[in-house]
Amino acid sequence: MVFNAIDDVLFWEDIDTLKKFFEENWKNFYPHDFAGWRKISAEFMKSQIPDKAEFIRRLEKYAEVGKPVWISGRNNSIDDIDTDTMIKAITVSSKISNGEQKAAQASKLQEKHQLHRNIYIDNIFHLQSNHILELTIGAGGGTNRVMKRMTERDFYMGVDIDFICAKNADALAKYYNVNGLGIAASLWNLPFNDCMFTSVCCCHGLNECREIPTILKEAYRVLKPGGKFVIECTHNIRNTQSYRDFSIYNFSDEEMIYWLKQLRMYAGSQNVEEILAACGFKFCNRIIDVNLRDILVYEK
Ligand SMILES: C[S@@+](CC[C@H](N)C(=O)[O-])C[C@H]1O[C@@H](n2cnc3c(N)ncnc32)[C@H](O)[C@@H]1O
Repeated sequence: MVFNAIDDVLFWEDIDTLKKFFEENWKNFYPHDFAGWRKISAEFMKSQIPDKAEFIRRLEKYAEVGKPVWISGRNNSIDDIDTDTMIKAITVSSKISNGEQKAAQASKLQEKHQLHRNIYIDNIFHLQSNHILELTIGAGGGTNRVMKRMTERDFYMGVDIDFICAKNADALAKYYNVNGLGIAASLWNLPFNDCMFTSVCCCHGLNECREIPTILKEAYRVLKPGGKFVIECTHNIRNTQSYRDFSIYNFSDEEMIYWLKQLRMYAGSQNVEEILAACGFKFCNRIIDVNLRDILVYEK
């Protein structure tokens, strides 16, 4: 049962309706029938939000009253986890074979564009010994790349609001035999002292988060002076989960970007750079890749 950031926004005033819909339907489709899930969730959206005017009313409401707190939970494993889910997550993530499987999946995806992506990793490992914080672990694609490069001198901490995703980092750390740990917490309020990390990184995660300015401020706070913040983020705004909902109501790309900025959500790498500058980060490098993802390198 996966809620995403734009669902939170649209159902900010009525999250129980969304939860009920998920509870009644998600397991009938996931993971075997994604197309079916898409169809039924678009129908649900239309039944709740009949037209573009109502969609915009909801966006305006969130823009005005939304906060960096979770209201739905990212999925049913963070705010309503049951014993079976917990035991399954712990036992599966405790096995080296699970890390091996995750590493194989991630490496397959990364075979293409290797050179381009080395820039991301090279900047994270800018010192002899690196204290790395990864924002958003998700399926572990970025985590795999970081852990592959780690030596015994490096330390990794990963944060994801989703408990199961956090455990992906543990499985990969076991497989690569490195000093790494994933924790379930929110990026809006990182449970770390100021200036703890020499690198903060985020691989394709900001597009699924709300309240980007709060997250980037937190990244600044926990980074050491001279430390690097390296972000890989989707170039094409249509490759985001937000697009799925906006497209149901025929928003143009320009309208969508306008609204994402109002909502303090991911509105493209240029907007992220504006927020980074406002937080005090100094620009180091930028790689724009219109077909894939942009890489932003900033320093505190
Ligand atoms: C697209 S996934 C990340 C992909 C991953 N980095 C990779 O390379 O495979 C986005 C993740 O962001 C997490 N997330 C969303 N909002 C968050 C928040 N406020 N705090 C922490 N994690 C959050 C979600 O749970 C999800 O796992």
